[in-house]
Amino acid sequence: MPAVTSTRTQVAIVGGGPAGLMLSHLLHRAGIDSVVVDHRTVEEIRTTHRAGILERDSVRLLAETGVYESGHERVITDGDRHGGIYLRFGGESHHVDFEHLVGASVWLYPQTDVFVDLHAARTRDGGDVRYGISGVAVHDLDTDLPRVTYADEDGQAQEVTADLVVGADGSRSTCRDLVEGRQRYSRTYPFAWFGILCEAPRSSDELIYARSERGFALISQRTDSVQRMYFQCDPAEDAGAWSDDRIWSELQARLAGPDGFQLNEGPVIERTVLPFRSFVQTPMRSGRLLLAGDAAHTVPPTGAKGLNLALADTRVLAEVVERALGKGDLDVLDDYTDRALARVWKAQHFSYWMTTMLHQVPGQQEHRDFDELRQLGELTSLVSSEAGATYLAEGYTGWPTA
Ligand code: PHB
Repeated sequence: MPAVTSTRTQVAIVGGGPAGLMLSHLLHRAGIDSVVVDHRTVEEIRTTHRAGILERDSVRLLAETGVYESGHERVITDGDRHGGIYLRFGGESHHVDFEHLVGASVWLYPQTDVFVDLHAARTRDGGDVRYGISGVAVHDLDTDLPRVTYADEDGQAQEVTADLVVGADGSRSTCRDLVEGRQRYSRTYPFAWFGILCEAPRSSDELIYARSERGFALISQRTDSVQRMYFQCDPAEDAGAWSDDRIWSELQARLAGPDGFQLNEGPVIERTVLPFRSFVQTPMRSGRLLLAGDAAHTVPPTGAKGLNLALADTRVLAEVVERALGKGDLDVLDDYTDRALARVWKAQHFSYWMTTMLHQVPGQQEHRDFDELRQLGELTSLVSSEAGATYLAEGYTGWPTA
């Protein structure tokens, strides 16, 4: 058995989540080879629940770039088109009608399904995707032929040499530590989300983002019989310590109101606490290394921008990589950071804004009283002004791709 098995490709992609797979797919369409490696197994990724909202352009990217065999666009047939959301405060729901305001919708289509579809597409097209491996490391970034090394499932040492390496290795990225001259910007929040999956019928036709005196709650959906919901909690909360009854009484209290809204209950089949963080690392390129998705930026989940930003990165990245490798001119890659970051900072603001408009910040009573009334003023001005609601609709459905 040779000491190391070597593979030569054009682009080595570290991370086989939606960002890594979408990039590999787009590169394949442009005639560029790639190898994707990930320490997680396909099963682990497929069963980790993440957000469920796709912007208009994310749906287009999936439906119009050959991810599906023609006529079988699962994102369209199995996803649910949502023409708006409800903002709920003061015990009443206010509809924000995206279709009316900006002529666009979003799609409820969970990230796990996006992963399954992209994985199926890469497998169908003969893509080289390697999961369940260990000890991934990147070397020789200062040469013309960087290397990614790892041990495969049988412990055999493997190496992939490539013209470019892409770090699409998520919020715990190790690739981002290799970027020279990096700057990091971040913000933490004094709360988290308690997320549940439950077996219950839908309670609403569209998502409900609710602000209450007890804190934020979000009523989302998955299928006719399984729903996804979240409520603001302490970051140190122990999800296992909450009984179904306690979860339901907290959610009911946050959704209650004089309009008589009914929240449908059922057995809780999964519970997790999701951390909140805003983070950006720049530049997103350092020589032959490029970053995509959560590796370079994370957003809090309010507004569901994370996956959409990652997909927007891959679109720009595939285009600059195609030009750079086609011309043999790496300077073309310089465009990537600026083009991707323009969208990233808009989404950072949008996620931060939605978060701070809807969550309770623990602290001095005097400040809390002020903030509560200020938030109600903000929400009222938003739902009673076409200009205010249009800003929300535009950001939520996604800005046009640069
Ligand atoms: C979800 O369905 O998981 C979801 C939807 C909207 C968000 C966050 C999460 O803002």
